[in-house]
Parts: sequence; C-alpha cells; structure tokens
Amino acid sequence: HLSDRVLEIQDAFEVSPTKLQQIVAHFVEELKKGLSAKGGNIPMIPVWVMDYPNGTETGDYLAIDLGGTNLRVVLVHLLGGQKFETEQEKYHLPKGMRTTRNRDELFEFIADCLEKFFYKLHPNGIEKGTLLPLGFTFSYPASQTRIDTGVLQRWTKGFDIPNVEGEDVVPLLMDKINEKKLPIKVVALINDTAGALVASRYTDPTTEMGLIFGTGVNGAYYDRVGNIEKLKGKLLPDITDESPMLINCEYGSFDNEHESLPRTKYDILIDEQSPRPGQQAFEKMTAGYYLGELIRLILVELYEEKQVFQKYSKDSEQIKLLYTPYLLDTSFLAEIEGDQDLENFPEVVRLFQEFLKIEPTLDERRLSRALSEIIGNRSARLSVCGIGAACTKMNIKKCHCAADGSVFHKYPKFPERAADSLADIFGWKEQNIQPKNYPIQIVPSQDGSGVGAAVIAALAHARQAKGL
Ligand code: BG6
Ligand code: GLC
Repeated sequence: HLSDRVLEIQDAFEVSPTKLQQIVAHFVEELKKGLSAKGGNIPMIPVWVMDYPNGTETGDYLAIDLGGTNLRVVLVHLLGGQKFETEQEKYHLPKGMRTTRNRDELFEFIADCLEKFFYKLHPNGIEKGTLLPLGFTFSYPASQTRIDTGVLQRWTKGFDIPNVEGEDVVPLLMDKINEKKLPIKVVALINDTAGALVASRYTDPTTEMGLIFGTGVNGAYYDRVGNIEKLKGKLLPDITDESPMLINCEYGSFDNEHESLPRTKYDILIDEQSPRPGQQAFEKMTAGYYLGELIRLILVELYEEKQVFQKYSKDSEQIKLLYTPYLLDTSFLAEIEGDQDLENFPEVVRLFQEFLKIEPTLDERRLSRALSEIIGNRSARLSVCGIGAACTKMNIKKCHCAADGSVFHKYPKFPERAADSLADIFGWKEQNIQPKNYPIQIVPSQDGSGVGAAVIAALAHARQAKGL
C-alpha cells in the first residue's frame, strides 16, 4: 500500500507544463498589479537603484549581509575593470534569534559582528573624522523612499521579532553602531535579490535578474519608470519614463489569494501553523525554510496511517521527535537525494539516526528518497515561475539570471530541474533546443550579495556626487 500512497503523493505534487504556463500567466498579471497605483499582493518594491553598474565602479565598502541562515560581514574592494576582491567573516545566527522578543538583541548581534570585523581590519582604528560607508543587505520586504532607508513591511522566513515591522531598520542598526562608537555609516539598504543582480551585472552585462533560492524565494529585475504607475508624481522631474528602476519583487507572496498554485493538504497545514497564515503562499511551497517541514508532515501522516516506523510507539523519543515542527531542515532532504548508494542508502540511515534517532527499514529509506525527489522537484519547477513571469512581462527572450541561496547551491539536481522547468514554460523542448543552449540561463551569482551592496553603495555615492 505504501507504493500506492507514494503515487498519490506524487500526483498531488506534480506540476505539468500546462499548469506551469497557467501559473506564469497569472504571475505576470500579479507583477503588473504590484506596480499599479492600487497595488496588489506582490509588493514590487522600487529600491531606488536607477543605474546599471558597468564594472567601472571603484572604492572600498563594508557590507553586512543578513541572509536566511548566516550573517556575513564583508569588506569589498571594487577595483574597476569588472574586478573586485573581498575579505569576509561568516557568523551563524544564534538559535532563537529569529523569534527573540527583544529587537535590540538582533541589532546588537549585527553590530557586535561588525565591531569584531572592524577591529580585525583596523586594530588601531582609522583616521579621525573618516566614516566607512556600509551597504546593508536586509533580506526582508522593506519599503524604501530613498536608498538609505527601509521600513520593514512584515517579517518572512520564520522571523518574528516584535516592534520592527513598520519601522525603518537603518536607524535601528545605526543606533547600535553609534553606541559602539564605530566610524561606520549605512549608505544603502538593499535586498539580497538586488545584490545578486547588481553583483553579477558588474561582471556580466547580460544579467537581467537576481534570484534567491534559499531559506526564502524571491527575484529582482530592472523595470522602466514609465511602467511603475505607483511612482507617478513622486519622482524628480529629471527622471524620464525610460529611466531604469530596480525592483525587488518580493514574489514569495505570489498567489496569497490561492488562485493558481496547486496547493496540497500539507501546504495548507504549513500555512495554517505558520506565524503569518495567508502570507508568502508561493514561498511556503518552494523555499528552503519549508521543504523539511513538508517531508515531516507527510511522514507524520504515514505514521498515523500505520504505514511507517511501526516499531516505535507514539510516546517513544523517536516519534516525539518526528512530531516536532521544523525539526527537519532542507539539508535533510538535500542529503537524502545526494545518497549515491541506491541499494542500501547509507546516508539516509545516517540522517534518520541523526535527526530522528530512527533506524529506517529499506522500504522506509526508499520511501524517503522518493519523497525527497517529489518535494525537491516541485520546488524547482514552481520556483522558476517567477523568472518566467518577469521575462515575459519585460519581453526578455535571452539573458542570464544570477542565482544564489542554499537551495540552489546545495540541493542536488535543483539547477537542472529549474532549467528543465523553464524549458517547459517557454516550449524550448518542442523546438529541440538543448539545455546548454536554453536562451534564459540560470547562473550562479557572483560572490553573494555583499558585492552587490558595495556596488549599489558606489552607485548611490556617484549619484549624490552629481547632486541627483
Ligand atoms: C547568500 C547571499 O549567499 O545567500 C545572501 O549572500 C542571501 O544575501 C542568501 O540572503 C540566501 O540564502 P539562504 O539559503 O541563506 O537563505
Ligand atoms: C524572503 C524575503 C525576501 C528575500 C527572500 C530570499 O522572501 O521576504 O526579501 O529576498 O526571502 O532571501
């Protein structure tokens, strides 16, 4: 019966080429709605980067990159000639930080990391009166009226810290930097997708989108000001309809109204049990923060149907672990798919022991492998609908899309599945186009958002110098 159940689950997670095309058509409408005066579910945030980098930008910039799993502090030397060098430190977000009740803890932690990094670079401080410019990559939806501000609209990716939503996060960080008397000033706040796009565009002018497939899922692209109805009347007169404007789509919130995405009962449960039900519908079906929870919910259901783990009683330690929300992270799925020994699945055995203390039978190992493939495949197929939509909207037929994030880099087969899904969306297979010739290519982004933050800080600096 277990194999019948797997087929049922596979069916529920299947996304056909036709379905993908329907989703993309809906997605295009939603991107447009987000730019309208009335607005829509997708925030489509103008981020006030109105220039394309061309690789000639130079200077030294600090960058803080608060991603989904890590905080990185980076010193970026932009050398011009499309070249840069970086020095960086990575700090793991302490457990519990995502949901601390005291917002100061988060901003203090960021400033602490910055302080350590600063004194490592400059043990004796720097010349009095100088201020190091800092680009702050803050990977949450933040409304901007200028490049150096960002009012958090709402937390995503499991963050839930009170008194930050509705606040400008730049002064919250600057207060902590000033308390430490660090000679540093935040000159730009950017989203990670904007960072990925601009960093890659610094070296590759064919880059049209910045994408994150990580703890969250999102994309950025340049639109033309004339298409952004909600900015009408709010721009300086020298800005024309043809001026470019970088947009952080925040399309993790695509289809919050549940019109086109094929949600399963597990997706509905994840949404209902999340701190923000009804939000981030697209992200909850595709992003790393939720993939481990999907397999856990399916395994719980199969346990309750008496299909798996029958040697463990309901009050055993193993089953208590299995019932712990968010116990399994994406690495659990990714490493199950990475197991090369398809007879014994030794990696799967190790993972079950490590996470759940369970000794899986051979059938249970095979089942877990099948489930990982089903969940990973759907994530990749749906994730690229954002690319399909933005490229369709902008009539982009050929480009590079720069991708970053743990799911893109660590989930086996994710890049291949994503490319295959784009081919289904655009009908490239019918035209006998081979994967290496697909006109829209998803390429790894250049060295993370830190470099993007530096380039954006440099562009902002150049604009200010011109008095714009
Ligand atoms: C990093 C980028 O490489 O990927 C970050 O530098 C980004 O800016 C992150 O937020 C996303 O990945 P994850 O998996 O940490 O959410
Ligand atoms: C979430 C955030 C968004 C970010 C994405 C990827 O969707 O809201 O700002 O770009 O995750 O990290």
